[in-house]
Amino acid sequence: MVQTLRAFLAVAPPHEVRHALVDQLRELDVPGRLVPAANLHLTLRFLGDVDQVALDRFSASIDQAERGDSFIVSLTGLGSFPNPRKATVVWARVGKGGQALYELAEIAESGATASGLTAEERPFAPHLTISRVRPPRDVVGLVNDTELDISWRVSELVLFESVMKKGSVSYEPLEVFPLIR
Ligand code: 2AM
Repeated sequence: MVQTLRAFLAVAPPHEVRHALVDQLRELDVPGRLVPAANLHLTLRFLGDVDQVALDRFSASIDQAERGDSFIVSLTGLGSFPNPRKATVVWARVGKGGQALYELAEIAESGATASGLTAEERPFAPHLTISRVRPPRDVVGLVNDTELDISWRVSELVLFESVMKKGSVSYEPLEVFPLIR
């Protein structure tokens, strides 16, 4: 049987930014299971379970792509999936940097399909998941009333492997792709 690993390409905020976000969230009553600070990230492309050959191809395509310059991302508020009345996921909303994230997600999508992976059907929606909510909850007030004040310069993309360890997930960096400057 072919060995696979679960992988995704993401923007990972630096340590101090992740902790600043956690500090701001601590003031709020966010329902559900909060994502641990170490795991906070913005996914550009979820690859799913991939074999090493496809992963190497994907990685080479991101390596060779024109990834552009570093850019500022800000997180300005909260949103939820599938909707705020019955939220199962609460996430931080991107203010600045959305366009650059879309462009990088497009590069990642082309790389994924060129590597033999199935095309993503859902349109890219930049979001940074902060909580998973079961059963679903109404977060209309929370989403409407919350402003966040977080920003940082994105200077690299990271290919992560998602590993289950003792019942909890940890994200191990496999490769880092710098942005130009
Ligand atoms: P999420 O943030 O919306 O939960 C690692 O699991 C990353 O890949 C997470 O950021 C997660 O998105 C995303 N992810 C997990 N399963 C996915 C799926 N089936 N389709 C798209 N993205 C997925």
